[in-house]
Amino acid sequence: MAKNPVRVLVTGAAGQIGYAIVPMIARGVMLGPDQPVILHMLGIEPAAEALNGVKMELIDAAFPLLKGVVATTDAQEACKDVNIAIMVGGFPRKEGMERKDVMSKNVSIYKAQASALEKHAASDVKVLVVANPANTNALILKEYAPKIPEKNITCLTRLDHNRALGQISEKLNVHVGDVKNVIIWGNHSSTQYPDVNHATVTTSSEEKPVRELVANDQWLNIEFITTVQQRGAAIIKARKLSSALSAASSACDHIRDWVLGTPKGTWVSMGVYSDGSYGIQKGLIYSFPVTCEKGQWSIVQGLKIDEFSRGKLDATAKELIEEKSLAYSCLN
Ligand code: NAD
Ligand code: LMR
Repeated sequence: MAKNPVRVLVTGAAGQIGYAIVPMIARGVMLGPDQPVILHMLGIEPAAEALNGVKMELIDAAFPLLKGVVATTDAQEACKDVNIAIMVGGFPRKEGMERKDVMSKNVSIYKAQASALEKHAASDVKVLVVANPANTNALILKEYAPKIPEKNITCLTRLDHNRALGQISEKLNVHVGDVKNVIIWGNHSSTQYPDVNHATVTTSSEEKPVRELVANDQWLNIEFITTVQQRGAAIIKARKLSSALSAASSACDHIRDWVLGTPKGTWVSMGVYSDGSYGIQKGLIYSFPVTCEKGQWSIVQGLKIDEFSRGKLDATAKELIEEKSLAYSCLN
């Protein structure tokens, strides 16, 4: 029997990431090849005509799974009954800016859209915040939408996770699909900690630690970490625009694994509500290693954290605490 359509909201859908992600969702990349979807796209007045153009293209592409398109500048209409909300709307940083430099513009958007989601979305809506500063926007959304369960509000660090897999794959000349269990800890910013201490590579059905295969602590502890932390800035420098296709694809990975589950023995990184695991202050939206089953994520427990890692986990938590107070000062 055919499944009922899932309603997926994409805010900022006329923007770069929006334009890249809506065809992925309509093709089943996010929710599977047998899951019909209804796309809800939210834009702002100056982008209304462009948003209508995206809707026209979606119709023209004749996607078999796409059962309807709502394109609107009205947040209430956009949020009505949505099951999944991908929050991309906002202002991207430009060359030379840190992600928190876009804070004042973006946190007020997230405060306003929190109420629209809380009032009009399905009660079990799953939210993914992509717009920067992603962790802090998600935190503001969580605090201004108290009826949405905190476990349902997440932010995107899967792009950083995928970037880390990509760097290891390039270094070892192995396929990226054979690398797993890197971790992105903390903020989606230049203080994030890409951790390879538990990562492995499977070659000829044998699983080996990345540290053993790379056998170059200097590269792993310095160059690898800096490359992943600075990859967003490197893309902006090269494209004069922030990452879009990789962000869209990683957002699909995030939702797919959250809804359909992570493969056995594999974890992924998600920005989620901290329950105090690994000594991280409760209530921050912090990126942890998680596994997902039956639509629920759980933080992987019991990983050994050495002194080097401890310092890095705490430094990125400290930045998130500072961003939180900066966000509140922007809102007041
Ligand atoms: P973009 O400027 O191309 O698109 C953003 C869109 O949002 C625009 O169409 C704009 O009109 C719209 N918008 C602005 N305010 C809005 C509002 N209140 N409601 C709805 N829509 C609104 O930007 P982009 O390149 O698509 O990037 C979007 C965001 O994603 C940026 O904040 C960027 O920094 C962030 N980003 C995050 C990651 C991540 O890994 N977390 C990766 C890449 C980009
Ligand atoms: C990225 O990581 O590519 C995005 O967050 C865009 C940015 O500002 O770096």
